[in-house]
Amino acid sequence: MPTAKISALGCFVPPGILTNDDLSKMVETNDAWIVERTGIRERHIATKEIATSDMAVAAAREALGQRGIEASELDAIIVCTVTPDMLFPSTACLVQNRLGAVGAWGFDLVAACSGFLYGLTTGAHLVSAGTHRKVLVIGADTMSRIIDYTDRGTCILFGDGAGAFLIEPSENPAEGFIGHISEIDGSGAQFLNMPAGGSRLPASAETVAKRLHYVKQEGQQVFKFAVRKMYELCDNLLKKHGLKPSDVKLLIPHQANKRIISATAERLGLPPEKVVLNLDKYGNTTAATIPLATRDAIADGRLKKGDLVLFAAVGAGYTAGASLWRWAY
Ligand code: COA
Repeated sequence: MPTAKISALGCFVPPGILTNDDLSKMVETNDAWIVERTGIRERHIATKEIATSDMAVAAAREALGQRGIEASELDAIIVCTVTPDMLFPSTACLVQNRLGAVGAWGFDLVAACSGFLYGLTTGAHLVSAGTHRKVLVIGADTMSRIIDYTDRGTCILFGDGAGAFLIEPSENPAEGFIGHISEIDGSGAQFLNMPAGGSRLPASAETVAKRLHYVKQEGQQVFKFAVRKMYELCDNLLKKHGLKPSDVKLLIPHQANKRIISATAERLGLPPEKVVLNLDKYGNTTAATIPLATRDAIADGRLKKGDLVLFAAVGAGYTAGASLWRWAY
């Protein structure tokens, strides 16, 4: 069985920026409250011509360029998103066509903020099964399209962006994918969702008037679950592989709230220099946070070949997961 490794990374964020001060002109909030309660200072927002597939294609092209391969060499494309261009066809199909990834198959994966992590696990297993040699996992979300900019409890949190990892077999069994723990708990569905637009509540004048096509969240419920679950899964995964938190070079968590991340790191006993935080610049980009944070960690010289890296996420569903990799480039 080959080991799966991450061999390239690409990212895209739209250039437009929405700052906390901008938001304070739209809803009753202020920069000090947002920074203290979330750690977020600004987020990138796509202009109306840009949809999720556009950002996904840009991130994918950067990853392919970094690896120096053609899209036609891809075996599969997984697009993790809760903001597809449309419900069907899948965004993966749109991306495949735009890239010219002739012969690839693929699908969209809906796991909200844990989406990229679930995509990584799926991609790693396709490669380690020996049936796929090049799988592109893309996390892309245009959250600004489903955020209610009159709701101060959610509009401060989210931003737009995309990131992609290429997964390939490794020649060296000591590097690449080590293992994961993933869990879903649908009892949390009521606390974070977008009520309308599906088969339960199709679009109508009423759903629009009631603003049901936007993200609805009970922030404190989600917060409490995230703090508990992120630590629990990281701790369990490390134990499962006979590792200690001190063996981890970097924790790259989903970027939802600085307080969730700090609580996880503290309970694991990880010092701040071992934890990647970049949500001050991007906010919560849902499926794109982990590749964006990984890119920044590489750019800052904090992530190098051979490092043990722990990815972790919690999101709507609830969905949750942790994934361990030995960084391979
Ligand atoms: N600006 C100013 N005040 C705000 C505010 C804002 N943007 N949003 C809420 N408040 C107010 C509330 O109305 C409340 O006022 P009250 O005490 O007068 O009723 C007070 O601040 C505290 O609200 P609360 O909801 O308890 O704040 P909080 O500390 O839980 O922070 C979140 C709110 C949304 C930042 C926090 O709950 C959170 O981050 N939750 C997790 C969200 C998340 O990660 N979601 C994605 C999942 S991956």
